[in-house]
Amino acid sequence: MAGEEGPELSRLYQDFESEHLIPLWTQLGDLMPMTPRPAAVAHVWRWSTLYPLARRAGELVPVGRGGERRAIALANPGLPGRPYASPTLWAAIQYLGPKETAPEHRHSQNAFRFVLEGEGVWTVVDGDPVRMSRGDFLLTPGWRFHGHHNETDRPMAWLDGLDIPFSHYTDAGFFEFGADRVTDYATPNLSRSERLWAHPGLRPLSGLRDTASSPIAAYRWEHTDAALTEQLLLEDEGQPATVEQGHAAVRYVNPTTGGDVMPTLRAEFHRLREGTEIPARREVGSSVFQVFEGRGEVVLDGTVHRLCQGDLFVVPSWVSWSLRAEERFDLFRFSDAPIMERLRFDRVHFEGERR
Ligand SMILES: [Fe+2]
Repeated sequence: MAGEEGPELSRLYQDFESEHLIPLWTQLGDLMPMTPRPAAVAHVWRWSTLYPLARRAGELVPVGRGGERRAIALANPGLPGRPYASPTLWAAIQYLGPKETAPEHRHSQNAFRFVLEGEGVWTVVDGDPVRMSRGDFLLTPGWRFHGHHNETDRPMAWLDGLDIPFSHYTDAGFFEFGADRVTDYATPNLSRSERLWAHPGLRPLSGLRDTASSPIAAYRWEHTDAALTEQLLLEDEGQPATVEQGHAAVRYVNPTTGGDVMPTLRAEFHRLREGTEIPARREVGSSVFQVFEGRGEVVLDGTVHRLCQGDLFVVPSWVSWSLRAEERFDLFRFSDAPIMERLRFDRVHFEGERR
C-alpha cells in the first residue's frame, strides 16, 4: 500500500502518526483476524529440566522480603521478555528449601498451588495454616494474606498458577506486604476452612452467602483420586460417568455457587486410561497442563510431544490439541475459561466438525 501512496496520502499518514492516530484500514487483519491468531505459542517445559534449575536457584537465591518468592515462571517464547505462559496465565515452579519461610503478603491476583510431589510445607492463608501434600490443589484467592513455611529438612517444589498477566494488562493489581514470617506456625492436618467446608455435599448454615471464590483452601488428592477412580469403575459397569470413553475428569468448584473456584481461573483434573485418545479441539482462551503421573503424548497444532511426570505445556487460544495415553495418564489443567465464558468469548471447535 505504501508504494501507491501519493504525497497527499503520505502526509495524511504522517499527520495521523504525529497526532497518535492509527487508521483501521491499515490494521484490520491484525485487529480482527478471521480466527484467533495468538502471539503466544504452544510450548512444552520438561520437569527434568525445570526441577534441577529450581534446585540451583534454591542454592543461590535466598527467599525473603522484597523478592518474596523463589518462583520461576514459564515464559512463553511467543511473548518474549514477559514471564507469562499465555496472555492471561502465569505458571511458575516455586521452590522452598529446608526450614525456609516465604513471608506473608497479599495481592489482587488470584493464585493456586498444585503439588506434584513432596510434603512438609504449610501455606498460611489469612491466618489459616493449610498443609500442602502430593496431589493437593490449594487456593489463595485475591487479597488474602499468605506465606509458606517448610517444616522439613528437604526442599519442596510445586506449581503456582495466577492470573498475573490478565491483571497486568487490565491494570487491576494491588499489592501489600504482611508479616515477615508467617503468622501461625501450627501444622494441622486439616485447615480450619476444610473443617468447616470440605464435607461432601454439606454446607454449613453459617455460610449461606455465596462467595466469589471457593471457601475451601485445599482440595485433597484422596478425594480427586477417588472421584476419578469411581468414574472409570462406573464406566466399566456400563454407567454414564466419564466425559468420553476412557476419559475421567473433574472440575474443582466453589461449593457456594457450583462454579469455578476463583473468578478468573478454572482448574480440572483429567485421567485417561491406557491407550485412550481424546479428539483434537481448538478453544478460545488458554490453558496450562501438568502431567501428574503416567506417560502419553500431546499433539499441539500437529506436532507430537511425548510427556512424562511433571512436564508442563501451554495451549494458547485456538491452538489445536489432543491427548493420547501410553499408560494411565493423569493431568492437572488450569485455564482462563471463567473469563472467556463470562465475556461470552468462549468457543470450541472439534476437528472434523464444521466451524
Ligand atoms: Fe503471593
